[in-house]
Amino acid sequence: MAELESLEFGKSDFILLDEVTMEQFMENLKLRFEKGRIYTFIGEVVVSVNPYRQMDIYGTDTIDAYRGRELYENPPHLYSVSDAAYKAMKRRAKDTCIVISGESGAGKTEASKYIMQYIAAITNPSMREEVERVKNVLLKSNCVLEAFGNAKTNRNDNSSRFGKYMDVNFNFNGDPTGGHINNYLLEKSRVIQQQPGERNFHSFYQLLRGDSEEVLRSLHLQNDPALYTYTREGAAATTSNNDCLSHKAVRHALQVIGFTEKEISSIYETLATILLLGNLQFESEAESVFVSTPEFLVHISALTHTDPGSLRTSLLCRTVATGGGDVIQKEHSEQEASFGRDAFAKALYERLFAWIVGRINSIIEVKNYNPVLHGKNTVIGVLDIYGFEIFENNSFEQFCINYCNEKLQHLFIELILQQEQEEYEREGIVWEHIDYCDNQIIVDLVEQQHRGIISILDEACLNVGQVTDTICLQSMDNKLSQHPHYMSRQLNPSDKSLEFQKHFRIQHYAGEVTYSIEGFLDKNKDPLFQDFKRLMFNSSNAVLQQMWPDGQMSITEVTKRPQTAATLFKNSIIALVDKLACKEPYYVRCIKPNELKSSVIFDDARCRHQVAYLGLLENVMVRRAGFAYRQPYERFLQRYKMTCEYTWPNHLMSNDREAVKAIVSQHGFDQDVEYGRTKLFVRSPRSLFSLEQERNQLIPILVLFLQKVWRGALARMRCRRMRAIYSIMRCYKRYKVKAHFWEVERRFANVRSMSDYGRSLEWPQPPAALSRFHKITVILYKRWWARQVVKNIPPSDMQEVRSKVAAFSALSKERKDWGIPRAWERDYLSNTRDSPQTCSGYIQFYKELKNKNEFNQVLFSAFCRKVNRFNKSSDRALLLTDKYIYKLEPKRHFKILKRVPLDMLTGVSVTSGADQMVVLHSFSQDDFLLCLQGGLLSPNQDRVGELVGSLVHHFTRVRKVPFPVNVCSSSVQLHMRGKPKTVTVETRPSINMADFKKTKDGFILVCPAN
Ligand SMILES: Nc1ncnc2c1ncn2[C@@H]1O[C@H](COP(=O)(O)OP(=O)(O)OP(=O)(O)O)[C@@H](O)[C@H]1O
Ligand SMILES: [Mg+2]
Repeated sequence: MAELESLEFGKSDFILLDEVTMEQFMENLKLRFEKGRIYTFIGEVVVSVNPYRQMDIYGTDTIDAYRGRELYENPPHLYSVSDAAYKAMKRRAKDTCIVISGESGAGKTEASKYIMQYIAAITNPSMREEVERVKNVLLKSNCVLEAFGNAKTNRNDNSSRFGKYMDVNFNFNGDPTGGHINNYLLEKSRVIQQQPGERNFHSFYQLLRGDSEEVLRSLHLQNDPALYTYTREGAAATTSNNDCLSHKAVRHALQVIGFTEKEISSIYETLATILLLGNLQFESEAESVFVSTPEFLVHISALTHTDPGSLRTSLLCRTVATGGGDVIQKEHSEQEASFGRDAFAKALYERLFAWIVGRINSIIEVKNYNPVLHGKNTVIGVLDIYGFEIFENNSFEQFCINYCNEKLQHLFIELILQQEQEEYEREGIVWEHIDYCDNQIIVDLVEQQHRGIISILDEACLNVGQVTDTICLQSMDNKLSQHPHYMSRQLNPSDKSLEFQKHFRIQHYAGEVTYSIEGFLDKNKDPLFQDFKRLMFNSSNAVLQQMWPDGQMSITEVTKRPQTAATLFKNSIIALVDKLACKEPYYVRCIKPNELKSSVIFDDARCRHQVAYLGLLENVMVRRAGFAYRQPYERFLQRYKMTCEYTWPNHLMSNDREAVKAIVSQHGFDQDVEYGRTKLFVRSPRSLFSLEQERNQLIPILVLFLQKVWRGALARMRCRRMRAIYSIMRCYKRYKVKAHFWEVERRFANVRSMSDYGRSLEWPQPPAALSRFHKITVILYKRWWARQVVKNIPPSDMQEVRSKVAAFSALSKERKDWGIPRAWERDYLSNTRDSPQTCSGYIQFYKELKNKNEFNQVLFSAFCRKVNRFNKSSDRALLLTDKYIYKLEPKRHFKILKRVPLDMLTGVSVTSGADQMVVLHSFSQDDFLLCLQGGLLSPNQDRVGELVGSLVHHFTRVRKVPFPVNVCSSSVQLHMRGKPKTVTVETRPSINMADFKKTKDGFILVCPAN
C-alpha cells in the first residue's frame, strides 16, 4: 500500500481516493506524474505513466530497497510487482505472470526490461556460472529481438512489431535455469511497405549504417538505406536510435547468446537478400515477363546459396498441380511476379525472425531437468505485446492486434473479478455483484465459430474463384448486422465517416476503430508460392535450409489449404490466454501521457481515454466494491497495534482477530469493516486513513521509546561485557598467580636434596601483582639457603666464617682483595707451615703468655714491618689476643716490645689498594702503623682482610661495641704520640720488600710492583 509516500505526491494507491470518480482519478494521476511519481497502485496492479525521460529509480539501491519487501512497504514501482511475482513463485511455488498492457508507446517494452533486470539482479546470489549464463542470454536476447522485431512508427521510435511472451524457469532455489520465448504475429507487411514517416525494422538500418564497407561489399550492399526500395521510406526518418552503435551491440549479443559465426553471417545474408529483392524489377514484353535487373538476381542467388536458374524460375513461374495429378509450370504476369517477390521477402523476414527466436529458445531451454532431483520447476512469464492501435488507415494487422488486446482485457476483467470473488468466498464475506464492462461480446464478434469476423474471412479465403475484399465485407455486413459492436456504411448509410464497400467499424473496449477491408483477404491467405519454399530448402546453406523445412514437400502434398493467418493468430492468442489464465497474474497498466514524447505534457483527454478503456476506474471500483483494503489479521495488528492500549505492545486476547477487533472498536469504525476468516476487510479508505494518521503521530514517540529501550539494551550489553571482561581478568590473574606458585613449587620442590640447595635454579618471572612478594620470597629463600649452608659448617670453622662475614661487610665494597678465597689460619706465628723456623720459639713464648693468663684466644698473629716515631723501620711480629695487642721482637725470642690493652683500640684504617698496610688507632693517639708480611702459606696474598675481619667480629659480636673500619683511597691519617702523620702508598718495581720511608709529614710505604 505504500503508505510511506506522503500525501504531497497524491495517493499512491487509487483505492485510497475519497471518491472513485474520473475527476479524482485523473487529478491524482496527473499530480503524481508532475511530481515524477510515474507508478501508482490499484491494489496489486501497477499503473505506469511513460515519463519520456530517464528516471533515477532503477539503480541497485532501489533494487535493494524492494528486494524481499512487501507490496505496501515501499512506494509503488515495477519492482514491487516483480518482487511480489517472484515471492509468490518462490514461497508458494506458484507459476506467476506479469502482463504489461497499454497502447503503443506507453512503455510496455521498457517496463518488461526493468522487470527482467530486477529478476536478474535479485537471483543467483551465489553467482553460479550456469545461472549467470542463462541470465545473460535472457537479458541479451532483448537486444536482438528488438533489432529484428521493432521499428520506428509514428507513435513510437522503438515500437514492438511483434508480441512477446517470455517464460523464465526457476529451480527450487529461485534461480533462473532457463526460459522460453513465444513470439506472436510479426507485422511482416512492414518489410515491404511502411506508412509515411515510419521505418522498416531496425535491423535493416543497423546493417546498412553500422557494418563495415567490407562486409557490406561482401553482401553486395551499399551503406545508404535510400538506395533500397524497402528502406527508402524510413531512410530520412529521424529517430532516437543510434543504428551504428545498436548494430555493434546486436552482433555482440548474438555472439554472447551463442550464435555461430556461420549463423550470424546467414542472418545478415538474409537481410541483404531481402533488400536486393526489393530492388529487383520485372518487365514484360510480348506476354513474357523477365527480370530487368539481372545483376541483383546473381547477387541474391549467391547470398541464398541457390542456383541462379532456379531462383529466376521461382520468381517468374509457379508450379501447379493439375487435376489429373500432373505438374506444370505457369508463368507469372508482371504483377504476379512482383507480388510473389514481395511475399517472398516478407516470408524470408518472418522465417528469419522465427528462426532467431527458435535458436535462442534452444539455447536457453531448461536442459537435463529432473523433477525428482531438481524439485518443482516454476515459471514467471512476462508478456509484452503490442498495444491497442488506432491509425488513420487500420488494416488486417491492427485488426489482429486489437483482437489480441481485447482478449487480454477480457482476461484481466475475468481474473481480477474472479480473484476478488474467490477471496470474498474464501473469507466468508457476503459479496455483492458489481457491474463492469465485460467485453466478451466483442471477443465473440471476432472469434466466434461460423459467425465471427475471422470465420467469415476464412470462409471467403476458402472460396475458389474471385471473392474480393468487397464481397467479404458484404458477407460480414449480412451476418453481423445485428451486432451492437459492429458497424459499416451499408448498415448505417448516414454515417459519412465510413466508406461504402471499404470500411467496417468495431466498437472495441478501447474505442471505435474503423478498418479498411482492402488487403484483408490477401493478408489472411498469406500466399507464398511453394516454389520459393522449395528453392530455399534446396539452398546449400544449412541455416537457410533449416528455416524452410516445408520446402521439402512435393507440390502434390501441399494442395491442402494451410490455416489462414487470422486463424493461426487466433489460436496462438487463445493458447497464450490459456497459459496466462493458469498462472497467478500481476498487471502493469501503461499509460502514454501525450503524443509528442514529451516529459512534461499530461494530455488530459488522451489519458482520460486510456484510463477509461483500460478499465482502470472499474478496477478501482471492483477493488473497493466492498472493501478498499484487506489485510491478514496478523499483519494488520503488526501495523496498527500501537494505536490501541489493549494491543500495545502485545495483546493478551485469545487470538489476533480479537485483538484486531479491539483496535477497530477503539477507533469506532466497527460498521465499516467485515471480519473474514484470516483477513480484515475495511470498506472505506477514510477509516484506514484515520488509523494511518494516528500511527504516524505515534511513530515518533515509538521511535523515541525504541531508541530508549535500545540504548538501555546497548548499555546493559556493554555493562555485561565489561563485567565479563573483569571476571575473565580476575580469573586470569588468579591463574597467573597460581601458575607462578605451581612453577616455583615445581622448580624448588627438591632443593633440600640438591647439593647447592637450589642456588643454581632460575626463578620464574613473577606476574606484576607478585613482584613485591617475589622479592620477599627470594630473600626468604636466600636466608633459608644461607641457613642450610651455615648449618653444615663445623663449629671449628665458625670463627673463620664469622670473621669473613665481618670483613665482607667492612671491606667488600671498597677493597678489591681481602683474602676471601683463602683459608684463614689466624695465628700465623704458631703455624709450622707458614713460619717453620720461628714457630717453635713462638709457641714457647705463647705458652708462657697463656700460663700468665694473659688471653683466652688469639685473634691474629703475623710478621710485619713496622715504623716508629723515630722513623725507624724494622721487622716485628704482631700478636692480637682478646685482651692485648703485642708488638714482639722475633729475633729476641719474641720479646714483648709493647703491650696495649685491646680496649685501647678505637678503629682500624687500611687502604683500598693491594698493599698490606694497617693502622690500628688507639685512644692514646699513639697508633700502630705496620705492613703485614706473608709467610710461606700465602706469600703474596692479602692478610689485611683477615686482620680486619677478626677485629670487627671480636668487637661487634663478643664485646658488642662498634669497631670503625676506615678504608682510605689515597693517604691514611694517624697519630704517633699525639702527633698527626700521613702515610701514603707507592709501588716500585725495583724493590722486593715493602718498607716505610720518612716523608715531610709522615711516611710513605713503598711496595713492590707485583
Ligand atoms: N520508464 C521509462 N523511463 C524512461 N523512458 C521511458 C520509460 N518507459 C518508456 N519510455 C520511453 O518511451 C518509449 C516507448 O516505450 P516502449 O517502447 O516501451 O513502448 P511500448 O509500450 O512497448 O510501445 P509499443 O507497443 O509500440 O511497442 C521508449 O523508447 C522510451 O524512450
Ligand atoms: Mg514495445
